[in-house]
Amino acid sequence: CGIVGYIGKNDTTKILLDGLKELEYRGYDSAGIAVLGDDKIDVFKALGKLHNLEEKVNDSSSKKYELGIGHTRWATHGQPTELNAHPHLGEYSYVVHNGIIENYKELKEELSNLGHKFVSQTDTEVIVHLFENYNNKFNDTTKAFHSTIERLEGAFSILLITKADPTKVFFFKHGSPLIVAKGNEDDEVLFASSDAPLIGLANDVVYLEDGVGGIATAQGIEFFNDNYSWSTLPTSKQFAQKDGFRFFMEKEIYEQSDVVVDCMLGRLSDDEILFDEIDKSLIKGINEIKICACGTSYHSGLTASYLFERLSKVKCNVEIASEFRYKEPLLTKDTLFIVISQSGETADTLEALKMAKAAGLKSLVICNVDNSSMTRTADATILTRAGIEKGVASTKAFTTQTVVLWMLALYFGKAKNVLGSDKLQSELHALREVPKSLIIDDSMHEKTKRLSKRYLHGHGFFFIGRDVFFPLALEGALKLKEISYLHAEGYPAGEMKHGPIALADPELFTIALMPQNLLYDKIKSNVEELSARDSTICSISPLDFDLSDDFIKINETDHYMLEFFEMLIALQLLSMEISVRLGNDVDMPRNLAKSVTVE
Ligand code: G6P
Repeated sequence: CGIVGYIGKNDTTKILLDGLKELEYRGYDSAGIAVLGDDKIDVFKALGKLHNLEEKVNDSSSKKYELGIGHTRWATHGQPTELNAHPHLGEYSYVVHNGIIENYKELKEELSNLGHKFVSQTDTEVIVHLFENYNNKFNDTTKAFHSTIERLEGAFSILLITKADPTKVFFFKHGSPLIVAKGNEDDEVLFASSDAPLIGLANDVVYLEDGVGGIATAQGIEFFNDNYSWSTLPTSKQFAQKDGFRFFMEKEIYEQSDVVVDCMLGRLSDDEILFDEIDKSLIKGINEIKICACGTSYHSGLTASYLFERLSKVKCNVEIASEFRYKEPLLTKDTLFIVISQSGETADTLEALKMAKAAGLKSLVICNVDNSSMTRTADATILTRAGIEKGVASTKAFTTQTVVLWMLALYFGKAKNVLGSDKLQSELHALREVPKSLIIDDSMHEKTKRLSKRYLHGHGFFFIGRDVFFPLALEGALKLKEISYLHAEGYPAGEMKHGPIALADPELFTIALMPQNLLYDKIKSNVEELSARDSTICSISPLDFDLSDDFIKINETDHYMLEFFEMLIALQLLSMEISVRLGNDVDMPRNLAKSVTVE
């Protein structure tokens, strides 16, 4: 989602719309602006592309506005509809918001009891009602804004305007990014959720820290505390869109820790997993799970099949969607059919979903794009909340899918009463550590850069692992194939001896996934077999291993899934760095499309 805001003498609507255009690359399904002039607020909202909004604004208004706020929305709570689009209205105030309000249900109930009328299904709307509730009580907008902030839980970066105090923009950052800028012209203040909309219009900016907010007027910006400092804006838009990274893929790899936080928000309580989007009836009477997906999404499904059987004691099998479609599958109604898709549009997966529905199965989609064909078809949707993924080679979508599936396995396990409370607690504890395991050490990135020099010369790669590290090996090999165009295969480590080991020689590079917390000794013997036949070995592990030619060290943790995510980062970086050295187009590799809507 994107936020923009403006106070000043220039054309407010144009500045807001131009700003939103600069945020288009982040993806959105609806957009809106609220603008204030002569003590009146006008609001415009539209579904789909920004020119729909632009047309609405131009058709109905040539008025001059003194200030305004705008938003592009990527649905996470409630469908992408005009009603759910931001800005959200109370009686006399508007708000735009990025993030997720975790306690919105309680707040909504409380405010509804006090007579507030809600029109949307979003979490955001509670903010503006809460504000008006306090303002009606105190008759003091500043006090009302502070009281509002105090009540909110979750992630919230906000801009709020109100007829009760028509010269001000109230702002606050907690979680999602927010920037305040002094405009290049006198008496001008700008806001944006990332650099791109500000470039050319401002030089001096404050990248707000969590917990910092304030009030801006044409006369200046007043911060609520001293925890802020001014910095200078970068000048390149391209660079700004990629948040300073070389490629979208690199940005998305680095973003994983943050998007996983969004993915887990409101879904992880002290002693259980919560999925508001699933009705208990969906899992009632279910004895089996069948997962269908393509590409990277298939790999998260395969990972999940281990987790479902281990944690929920439900039989689970996984199929590649294009295979499933034509095999005349036997389907029984006690099977929950799960499809996994970043885009929600992949033709093979969508058709598989339709087949399952036609056979009377209950269905669930795990998806990154609300209102996509799959979310409209399945009985239930869990959104992964990874934000738009631009790199064709999927990274953060996979991570969030895997986290959702892990949570779902625990949700099932608890519902079926097969998880002891100690086990559940230790799993929840590990889940909470995932964002940390996805933070990237400079030294690890440097190491992959150094290794890429030699590893681009391999005539073939085997990525090997056991258990969930086998699908991870498949994913590592797929990443390398997609962007480096080198031949790579993922293989179950224990299966190498049944054929592929015949290929072993020094130019055969083996990337061995060696977790400390799962079957370490078993994988170690498999690697020894390959090493004895002169294969070049690169191990990824918390433990150094004397037969490795190269070693990428990951942090020691106490759960194999944390090792999984640590290794994932290493694999993504390694393939990206090899691709960079080969001079390939990292974000748009040859012959591939981000979303394949043909058979
Ligand atoms: C394409 C992309 C892959 C992706 C696959 C499935 O082939 O290049 O990166 O994994 O489609 O896409 P989906 O949107 O269904 O997850």
